[in-house]
Amino acid sequence: MNDSDLSTQWGKYYEATLDRPPRDTLVRALNAFDAETLSVNPRFAIDLGCGNGVDTIEIIRRGWTVLATDREPGAIEWVKQRVPIEQQPQLRTQVAALEEIQLPQADLINASFSLPFCQPVPFVGLWQQIVATLRSGGRFAGNFFGDRDGWSQHTDMNFHNVDQAKQALSAFEVEYFLEEESDGVTALGDPKHWHTFSIVARKF
Ligand SMILES: C[S@@+](CC[C@H](N)C(=O)[O-])C[C@H]1O[C@@H](n2cnc3c(N)ncnc32)[C@H](O)[C@@H]1O
Repeated sequence: MNDSDLSTQWGKYYEATLDRPPRDTLVRALNAFDAETLSVNPRFAIDLGCGNGVDTIEIIRRGWTVLATDREPGAIEWVKQRVPIEQQPQLRTQVAALEEIQLPQADLINASFSLPFCQPVPFVGLWQQIVATLRSGGRFAGNFFGDRDGWSQHTDMNFHNVDQAKQALSAFEVEYFLEEESDGVTALGDPKHWHTFSIVARKF
């Protein structure tokens, strides 16, 4: 697929998923912050591969400032449009590829169904950056794709077996780790074998 076809596909994905609620891993992470008595305010989050902003909107609604990033300019346009005007001061945006992004320090890094789309070699550096960028007590929320995922032959994406997924979290207290595998469909209705890890983890 060339870049313009990819953008068209993502554009369709953003429209097809406009009614989705925020991701479960994100909500778990936000609730975990809220349950802590020694909370830091204002809290700063990065939403990597933010898509149409489904998670960014929720993070902002709960009082955080968010840097929403995505490689697709169309995604950033959706986010800017969907965040209510009175909450716009809490929104920062950046069009950036996961392979090249430079992350500022953050309390939360959210990456819902986006990290697998980073090429495998740059992913190693990206993950090191995510670990280094999170403040102690900060959280990662998001997903890896498993090695039995139906897209695992895509050489421009990255996949983890269960040991690799756990190994990636060695600098974290793992608060939630759910491995799922099933036959299903994509948001655009194409059949797909899903093998995913859904994670919430607190940095030591
Ligand atoms: C499956 S969507 C997930 C969007 C959103 N986080 C959600 O939960 O609905 C993946 C997102 O990652 C973005 N993406 C894919 N490859 C990327 C890359 N290499 N760098 C940055 N963003 C990328 C896509 O543009 C898309 O918005």
